[in-house]
Amino acid sequence: MAEPTSAQIDNVMREDRLFPPTAEFAAQAVIPSAEAYQALWDEAQADPLAFWDRQAQELHWFEPYSQVLDWQEPVASWFTGGKTNASYNCLDAHLGTERENKTAILWEGEPGEQRTLTYRELHTEVCRAANMLKKLGVGQGDVVSIYMPMVPELAIAMLACARIGAIHSVIFAGFSSEAIAERNQDAQAKLQITSDGAWRRGKELPLKPMVDDALDKSPSVEKCLVLRRTGSDVPMREGRDVWWHELAEQVDAECPAAPLDSETTLFILYTSGSTGKPKGIRHTTAGYNLYAKKTFEWVFDHRDSDVYWCTADCGWITGHSYVVYGPLSAGATCLMYEGAPNFPAEDRFWELVEKYQVTTFYTAPTAIRAFIKWGDQHVEKHDLSSLRLLGTVGEGINPEAWMWYHEKIGAGRCPIVDTWWQTETGGIMMSPLPGAIPTKPGSCTKPLPGILPAIIGEDGQPVGENQGGMLVMTHPWPGMLRGIWGDDERYREQYWSKVPHNYLAGDNARCDEDGYYWIMGRIDDVINVAGHRLSTIEVESALVSHPQVAEAAAVGRPDEIKGQAIAVFVTIKEAEASDALRDELKLHVRKEIGALAVPDDLRFAAVLPKTRSGKIMRRLLRDIASGKETVGDTTTLEDYTVLAKLRAEDE
Ligand code: WTA
Repeated sequence: MAEPTSAQIDNVMREDRLFPPTAEFAAQAVIPSAEAYQALWDEAQADPLAFWDRQAQELHWFEPYSQVLDWQEPVASWFTGGKTNASYNCLDAHLGTERENKTAILWEGEPGEQRTLTYRELHTEVCRAANMLKKLGVGQGDVVSIYMPMVPELAIAMLACARIGAIHSVIFAGFSSEAIAERNQDAQAKLQITSDGAWRRGKELPLKPMVDDALDKSPSVEKCLVLRRTGSDVPMREGRDVWWHELAEQVDAECPAAPLDSETTLFILYTSGSTGKPKGIRHTTAGYNLYAKKTFEWVFDHRDSDVYWCTADCGWITGHSYVVYGPLSAGATCLMYEGAPNFPAEDRFWELVEKYQVTTFYTAPTAIRAFIKWGDQHVEKHDLSSLRLLGTVGEGINPEAWMWYHEKIGAGRCPIVDTWWQTETGGIMMSPLPGAIPTKPGSCTKPLPGILPAIIGEDGQPVGENQGGMLVMTHPWPGMLRGIWGDDERYREQYWSKVPHNYLAGDNARCDEDGYYWIMGRIDDVINVAGHRLSTIEVESALVSHPQVAEAAAVGRPDEIKGQAIAVFVTIKEAEASDALRDELKLHVRKEIGALAVPDDLRFAAVLPKTRSGKIMRRLLRDIASGKETVGDTTTLEDYTVLAKLRAEDE
């Protein structure tokens, strides 16, 4: 029998189950049918600028724009000449409407405290914080670095920056002081905002001491604003550190939102690329705000009665777009939870869903896989009948986890929106519209209105049905990144050079006979660990900065819970390979980047396998790391014995 072709292999893997929305769901949906979706998508495709022009009327404009898009490839300016303000659109826009006294943020701390903030109250807090920023010398265009737990003040700090035209750079509170310092330096941050500590699984994470170390290496940072969260004793440096609660008493609660040019930088958010240096993805005000709002309303089928919960941390793009800017612009009620999903027990999330009558739940596949492992008994303890819609983000979801989510959490009743997007895209690009598009487990289904994807083969031409290729966007969209902070060349090179005139997403994908997209993983050295992007080179750079390491190679290997785990191969200088050194190297990575980058496996190797031209043979290492027999041609190996030695390490 002949070898199967790759198309036949795809066929075997094809998921044929189709889950249409129930008639009841569709009848009340924002986009209620496949025809309605198609009509909207067709309208947007025929004239994208007219389409976005129409949508943009939903934002508040202090001054109208004169042009929808000024496209100087690869530099986009959306809604040029207009003036708006993201903080205004999230807050002031709801005052004087029936949403004024609606709950904006519903918060629960890990130890169990509860807070609610109405739109009116949130507005007051944001105005106060904006005045605090001004008092600390922060003005338009200044960068504010934020390193905080998931408490309302994190969202308040972001919105306060937006209010006065300062640029926030939120750094996930799992990063190390080295990583904070690197980002602060790159962004030339002027102010640091942090808290004394954070609660995680009942223990305190010491944030302020981490920041103190970082600030020793962040000369641009002049002041540090410190929120009291855990109440633990932290040293405050005279002249630099200021308590949030003390400063709050010295300012008033009135601060009009500044009318800002559409293209004013709203934030930078660092993410991993294919080099060791994280890149500061830059988003601007009007286009990003509009895109976050519309995609939130469409994908989460927003209704005023919803209680919406996105479990992402504001340290990631999902927290920016779907905890803060999207839902608040839409006037939603958002649940925000500070802590771990398994504290005090593995049913914490389901307890929260029941307690707050959550209707819409958005989380990551890695969390779903952990729930499966923890066991159904934690789910079954709770009444989840308030839920009507489920979502996932961050990586592909395997069909088995999808089915579990559908049956156990959604009781077979709730549509699942598998949302594909990136830090760079600002908002969701491809996702089922829950009242309109039947879902297939594992597929992010179709592009949203105004989004025009294509799949391109190595020859630069679009590929056919069910054939894999590079995913690109053929037309600019309002939420797109505007650049990499301080590195225009890298922006052009990484996103706009490989496929001329197209945005290169960096993912492979295929499109099936129904026009459904299936993401097939990255084309570069980026790995996805528990839904977080990491560059293998970042991990390698961290390792080789240790005095005993000569060379290191990091690869991703499959992991049941995290999707991918990090496996590293290290050649050392004089030291003896030992468990102690292994632990020390892991600790070193934790110090350089943070706990999220600590290798799961660390193997010592006498030499790394390389091609004749000196390239590390990552494919081979990936196979070894995942315990697979190596297949394919290895005659290009510099040293055949290497392979055997690495295998021996395994035994
Ligand atoms: C991956 C997160 C498959 C993808 C919003 C992308 C996904 C990268 C999905 C961006 C999905 C995200 N299905 N893969 N639904 N969502 N990815 O910047 O590889 O942290 O390029 O943004 O995650 O990760 P980022």
